[in-house]
Amino acid sequence: TKVIFRDHAGETREVEAKNGTSVMEVAVANMIPGIDADCGGACACATCHVYVGDAWMGKLKAKEDMEDSMLDFAENVQDNSRLSCQILLSDDLDGIEITTPESQ
Ligand code: FES
Repeated sequence: TKVIFRDHAGETREVEAKNGTSVMEVAVANMIPGIDADCGGACACATCHVYVGDAWMGKLKAKEDMEDSMLDFAENVQDNSRLSCQILLSDDLDGIEITTPESQ
């Protein structure tokens, strides 16, 4: 499954990753800047906050309460904000566009 990361400066990086991996894990494994993921994917730090491309928003699973409340701690939250450790790749998400924020 292809993931396209765009950083706040507009630079894009395209990576291939296995289904079932989280977008956060893919970012860390590919040294994508802008994702800290301090808690290692436990939905407890909000430093894996990203913006999801509009075309993929409707394909994601709805946020769990925990993700919603953790997002309150993220900076510059928008309608398309998600925690990348809670987005698991699947065929549906092929080509998903993820924009990383300037800071976490
Ligand atoms: Fe900590 Fe996602 S890695 S909330």
